[in-house]
Amino acid sequence: MDGVNHSTVSEFVFLGLTNSWENQLLLFLFSFSFYLASMMGNLVIVFTVTLDIHLHSPMYFLLANLSVIDMFFCSITAPKMICDIFKKHKAISFCGCITQIFFSHALGGTEMVLLIAMAFDRYVAICKPLHYLTIMSPRMCLYFLVTSWIIGFIHSLVQLIFVVDLPFCGPNILDSFYCDLPRLLRLACTNTQELEFMVIVNSGLISVGSFVLLVISYIFILFTVWKHSPGGSFKALSTLSAHITVVVLFFGPLMFFYTWPSPTSHLDKYLAIFDAFITPFLNPVIYTFRNKEMKVAMKRLCSHLLHYRKIS
Ligand SMILES: *[C@@H]1O[C@H](CO)[C@@H](O)[C@H](O)[C@H]1NC(C)=O
Repeated sequence: MDGVNHSTVSEFVFLGLTNSWENQLLLFLFSFSFYLASMMGNLVIVFTVTLDIHLHSPMYFLLANLSVIDMFFCSITAPKMICDIFKKHKAISFCGCITQIFFSHALGGTEMVLLIAMAFDRYVAICKPLHYLTIMSPRMCLYFLVTSWIIGFIHSLVQLIFVVDLPFCGPNILDSFYCDLPRLLRLACTNTQELEFMVIVNSGLISVGSFVLLVISYIFILFTVWKHSPGGSFKALSTLSAHITVVVLFFGPLMFFYTWPSPTSHLDKYLAIFDAFITPFLNPVIYTFRNKEMKVAMKRLCSHLLHYRKIS
């Protein structure tokens, strides 16, 4: 019998977050509005950066790319979850489950590397302003982008290669609202201890590693600013605080998720809401609507659009 694929499970069933009707309604309103707001906010960033020539700089290109990733990222789990909220039987096919895991890890990994690129961009802008345009050349930006996509996809592929062949013979209940690797592995009817360890090392390393790298680079930037002009660190701090907020909110739940030995509590299920709904929404809010240049560009874009409407 060995070597034969024993899989009998063809779909998984989510327990979802709540069973009471009032809570489902609240959850629906909450997730639907956050999803819509994230998509709109990020779309506005992409349009504004693409259409406004004043924003054609490395920082804004990276930001627009982050927005594209965020739009994909929140579309992996959110639409399915929103459609499922009121259903009694929240099922997902085996392929659907693997697809969710693949893209959430690939895009998550890409986003982490991109956040590092954005921190590097700020480092060059603040600490080496005279060389900014030569260091952050269009070629360098593209290089950063391609690298982050490659790292993200390799990170995800390496984990999933071992998972697709696992036998699943039931039960098939996932106490969550989307497919995640730790929970899926616990359903396999074979010993997955080594695999679980590999996932913790792989995902833990990329998330904790990027987080530490980001924190160090922000401390380094702040220290450099403070050394050159003790009073000037306040302005840099307000710019960087936006970055640091996003980084903490994005990585906090993830690191808890993948480095906590065995998540028996339900806390991780609720923390996952953060990464699914709130972070993609906060990126536009934090990076953009607090940014003067961006606000001016959006006003300019709006008045252009109105102007064209009047002519035609
Ligand atoms: C992403 O970055 C690249 C390279 O800087 C840039 O050419 C492209 O326009 C950016 N994408 C978006 C949607 O702005």
